[in-house]
Amino acid sequence: MSRVKIIAGNWKLNGNKALVDEFNHTFNQTTFEHVSVMIFPPALYVNEFNCEHLTIGVQNVSEQTSGAFTGELSVDMLNDMGITHTLIGHSERRDIYNETNELIAAKVAQAIAVNITPVLCIGESLETRNAGNVYQFIQSQLDSVIEVVGITGLAKCVIAYEPIWAIGTGVTASPEQAQEVHRFIRDYLGSIDEVVAESLSILYGGSVNAKTASELFVQPDIDGGLVGGASLKKEEFLTICHAANQRG
Ligand code: 13P
Repeated sequence: MSRVKIIAGNWKLNGNKALVDEFNHTFNQTTFEHVSVMIFPPALYVNEFNCEHLTIGVQNVSEQTSGAFTGELSVDMLNDMGITHTLIGHSERRDIYNETNELIAAKVAQAIAVNITPVLCIGESLETRNAGNVYQFIQSQLDSVIEVVGITGLAKCVIAYEPIWAIGTGVTASPEQAQEVHRFIRDYLGSIDEVVAESLSILYGGSVNAKTASELFVQPDIDGGLVGGASLKKEEFLTICHAANQRG
């Protein structure tokens, strides 16, 4: 079955108007037949993108609908402004801002209720990996979302597997290491609903760069990438998009 291939750039707390303009310029002249290209800039910049070949999303969304929640963005506001995608549960949100599995599940529920697509980020720490608990940990992250939105809710997400030890470290998971966990995710979800498991796009994130992209995207269960640092460099990001596009 052919799944949607996605290359998504997560700019985190980086970038500026000049970088947005560079991306608009470059991607207005470039199309990828087999890959959907997304950028998740800081929310302030989302409406500065004017390129129809890019899907623009936000990096986080509130679990609340409206009211006295200073600093938050609601899913209805995303809809109102034509934003279709949001990252949810990035490990930096989990670790630095103490977002729990329960909170993340509530955010996913909010998003899918109004047809916003969550890119649900999961992934283990080095400590968890060294203790041999990767699968158990990943399964519990998935279960906490499935408990709230069901497998049909999860089917509306894109999953991003981002091992924490590979994020911003320059240490990319080997293609075999990444494929092994992607396969586990698909098998586990397949034990609940085979059709959903086969159709879900599962992205790899963690030090994806121009050198490592091709060998990652050739893996059968890796449907693209969630790219941090390298998504701030237009040429390198383009190379990564081409690598995914070649896989077809
Ligand atoms: P790096 O590509 O900089 O390792 O970041 C990955 C990431 O966290 C994307 O969400």
